[in-house]
Amino acid sequence: MDAKEFPRRRKRLMDMMGDDSIAILPTSSVHMRNRDIEHPFRPDSDFYYLSGYPEPEAVAVLIPGRPAGEYVLFCRDKDPKMEIWYGRRAGLEGACDIYAADDAFPIEDMDDILPGLLEDQDRIYYNMGNDQAFDQRVIGWVNQVRERIRAGVHAPEEFISLNHLLHDMRLYKSRQEIKALRQAARISAVAHKRAAQACQPGMMEYQLEAELVHEFIHQGARSPAYPPIVGSGANSCILHYIENAEEMRDGDILLIDAGAEYEGYASDISRTLPVNGKFNEAQKAIYNIVLKAQLAAIEQVQPGNHWIDPHDAAVKVITEGLVALGILKGRVRTLIKDKAYTKYYMHRTGHWLGMDVHDVGDYKIDGDWRMLEPGMVMTVEPGLYLPAARGLARKWWNIGVRIEDDVLVTRDGHDVLSKDMPKTVAEIEKLMAH
Ligand code: GLY
Ligand code: MN
Ligand code: MN
Repeated sequence: MDAKEFPRRRKRLMDMMGDDSIAILPTSSVHMRNRDIEHPFRPDSDFYYLSGYPEPEAVAVLIPGRPAGEYVLFCRDKDPKMEIWYGRRAGLEGACDIYAADDAFPIEDMDDILPGLLEDQDRIYYNMGNDQAFDQRVIGWVNQVRERIRAGVHAPEEFISLNHLLHDMRLYKSRQEIKALRQAARISAVAHKRAAQACQPGMMEYQLEAELVHEFIHQGARSPAYPPIVGSGANSCILHYIENAEEMRDGDILLIDAGAEYEGYASDISRTLPVNGKFNEAQKAIYNIVLKAQLAAIEQVQPGNHWIDPHDAAVKVITEGLVALGILKGRVRTLIKDKAYTKYYMHRTGHWLGMDVHDVGDYKIDGDWRMLEPGMVMTVEPGLYLPAARGLARKWWNIGVRIEDDVLVTRDGHDVLSKDMPKTVAEIEKLMAH
């Protein structure tokens, strides 16, 4: 990410916050995995979006118009001994030189310094409810300022959620962000191809997970954006199946949902493959309904359309398809009205995509579905999940299909960021034949 990107974002947010206000953004906490082993640290997306600061134990504070500096970073100081054991730290100097903070203080001093920064501000922008212990500290700092009211100090009166301003900013992706999202999708597409080509009956699902993750890391995307789903047979019908622990059998279908995180930006791609490289007739019939639904939904990703238009398009194709196959019975219009399709298609057709895989941003404004605008990025991911169940002809059993792409809204339509991974029956069979 271009270094100028972060100051630009901070400035935009501060312009919206206005004077007499302060924003407080802690990064994520470190979580223990077991005993003294930590989960890999991932900065909080809001914090990282504004700071670009990758280390744990940090709090960014924005104070528009503060003469001594508008951007204060509390962070870990340098510590030669700790750095020998646990790795390099930017330190206070690095916070200013590398990450462009106007002022940097040791995180240990925050309780002493922060109340002073709150003095004479009217509004505190802060997201309550993410971390109870931190919420309590913020309230404690405000109370300390209140105690000084008789000394003529003015205490903040208003707590405002940062989400409203910041999450709306994050919904509209900049050029730099689109570049990162495109790269995340590109890497993920290569990984999906690699998994498709490695797939053989008799292999374990986790062996394909290994192919996916190998490609992610090899290409510099050090973590998946979410735990990869590799579900064959009946597992293809479990929406968030992540055990990935079964043998893949000849004749079964295989649903892979996996995306890399690259420079803090997620991709989210699903493809459905025949384990043995060739779809049978029933699998092909279901697959082609989902593909048609997905293409119809992508067609609706246009500026000026509403958030729900792609979903509605997908629901129509899916319902028509299920009626044509005799899986649903009745009139298409009525079945859509009664949501009969939700028995086999129980999730939405997509979500915003960005630093978080289910990214921030409102889907409705004043009760109405939001209008799509250039710079928004979303997934389009219809699916059909036919479990082994009475009332369903046996040939349909255990066919779970999802096809998911990452789509950018452009000025005159859309751009499918994940288009490198093929999705027609013929393309997939050709890919798997090699
Ligand atoms: N991989 C999560 C989702 O598709 O939303
Ligand atoms: Mn997905
Ligand atoms: Mn998704």
